[in-house]
Amino acid sequence: MATITETLPARAAVESTLNFYAPPKDGSVPYNIVYDVPEGTPTRNYEVLHQKVQIIDARGREGDFTLDNNGFQFEKRHHAFNNWSDAERIEKEYYPGVINAIKEVTGASKVVIFDNTIRTKDGYRKPVMAVHVDQTPKSAEDRVRLHCPDEADVLLARRFQIINYWKPLTGPVEEFPLALGDAGDMSEGDIVSVEHRYRDRTGATGAVQYNPNQKYYYLSGMDTDEEVLIKCYDSLDGVAKRTPHTAFEDPTSAPNALPRESIEVRTLVFYD
Ligand code: OGA
Ligand code: FE
Repeated sequence: MATITETLPARAAVESTLNFYAPPKDGSVPYNIVYDVPEGTPTRNYEVLHQKVQIIDARGREGDFTLDNNGFQFEKRHHAFNNWSDAERIEKEYYPGVINAIKEVTGASKVVIFDNTIRTKDGYRKPVMAVHVDQTPKSAEDRVRLHCPDEADVLLARRFQIINYWKPLTGPVEEFPLALGDAGDMSEGDIVSVEHRYRDRTGATGAVQYNPNQKYYYLSGMDTDEEVLIKCYDSLDGVAKRTPHTAFEDPTSAPNALPRESIEVRTLVFYD
C-alpha cells in the first residue's frame, strides 16, 4: 500500500507572477521616490510587467548553487542569537557570527556590515514584491566610499562584493518565500538602473526586466537554521555578479500560513 509521502506530488517548481520593471512610456530617466509625498503624487515613473514564471525548488540540491556560478548560495550555520527585537544586541551579538560565516564561505579577508532589515508581514518593512538587485555598480562603489572612507581607494583597487545574508526568523517559511534569479546566465542589459530619490540625496538600485532566459529558484520550507547569501555586486569579471531577487506569492501557501519574518544583513566583502 502506498504511504502518504509516496503519493504526494514532487514539488519541483511552483508557478507565480513576479513583478518586473518596464521602461517609462515617455522615455524619461526611471525613478522611485522614497520619501513621503502628498497623496496622489506618483512615487515611480516606470511601468510594471506582471509575468508568470516557474520558480524551481532548490530543496534537495542546495549545494548545487554557488556565489561564483549563480550569485547565491544556501548555508546552514548555527547562530545561537534570537533576540530580534533588540537592534543593539543584533549588532553586538549577531553581526560577529555573520562576519565569520561570510569569511568562511568566501575566503574574504574583511567583511563590513552596513545595515540590516527585518521584514514582517504587517511591519514597516514588508517582503519586497518586485524583482530587483539592491545596488548598481555605481552605488556599490559609493557604499565602499561611504562606509570605509579612509581606505576606499585601496579597497576598491582589489576584488570586492556586496553580499546580503538573508535568514528567516520564523520557520519553516510558509508564505512569501524569496525567489532568486540565476545571476550566472543573466544578461547585464536585463538589469536597469533606477534612481532612488531620498529627500536629501539620490541613490540607485537595479530593476530587472523580464527575459525568458532568466531562471528563478527558491528553497521550499526554508527554516530558521538556514540562510541564503545573495550577491548583489562583484567587481570581478567572469563570475556571477548581480543576483535578482524578490518575494513571491506561493500558490501552495495555506490561508493560515505562518507569516514570514526575515532579516537580511548587508555586507561589503573584501579580499587580499
Ligand atoms: C533583500 C531583499 C526582500 C524580501 O534581502 O535584499 O530584497 O522580501 N529581501 O526579503
Ligand atoms: Fe534586495
